[in-house]
Amino acid sequence: MNKMLAPSILASDFSKIAEEVHLMTSAGADMLHLDVMDGHFVPNITFGPKMVKDIRSITKHILDVHLMISEPEKYIEEFAKAGADWISVHYEATVHLNRLISQIKNAGCKAGVVINPATSVDVLDEIIPYIDFVLIMSVNPGFGGQKFIESSLSKSRKLREKLNSSNPKAFIEMDGGVGLDNLLQVRDSGVEVFVAGNSIFGSDNPTGTVAEMKKIINS
Ligand code: DX5
Ligand code: ZN
Repeated sequence: MNKMLAPSILASDFSKIAEEVHLMTSAGADMLHLDVMDGHFVPNITFGPKMVKDIRSITKHILDVHLMISEPEKYIEEFAKAGADWISVHYEATVHLNRLISQIKNAGCKAGVVINPATSVDVLDEIIPYIDFVLIMSVNPGFGGQKFIESSLSKSRKLREKLNSSNPKAFIEMDGGVGLDNLLQVRDSGVEVFVAGNSIFGSDNPTGTVAEMKKIINS
């Protein structure tokens, strides 16, 4: 699969969200990463399906919805209806992961499992055949702008091997502290989808950064 860049709008200015979205898509971003936080599963609150729906109305790009919420099973259909293309749920947020993955697929979306930094990739062994992707958190979820946790790289290397043997079509996404300084290492560890918030929106030239990051991931 082609490597893809997913700017996280969490780091953008919500008072001009349409402008920010168009800035990213016209700069060459492959999708938009939307972080949904509930103040319960993570210590921060962002937005819900309404935001996804409003962004859906202004772009045809893939909407990659990362649910950092408790009881995600209650909201899958609502996010799918709002226009999510990909939905990822935390391994740590459910006891019925297999059912939840089917629920996401039945709602018409690509289904991903997210693991926190302290969660081993080994817990994914039984679910790998059923999923479209794994999102490895390279910071503790809840906030943008945190420092990349280096051990995430050995996790993606190990996971790539597992995927190659039991679900070669599945891909790896990495989220948290990803930027120009570590992009090559992240790519070389087997990651195919790169989430980046502060390293894009916090840079002097966000569109230039998108172009530069895309060049690196495809080099
Ligand atoms: C963190 C979120 C990330 C966040 C990444 O909980 O899942 O998507 O927006 O932001 P940066 O790239 O700034 O670490
Ligand atoms: Zn995220």
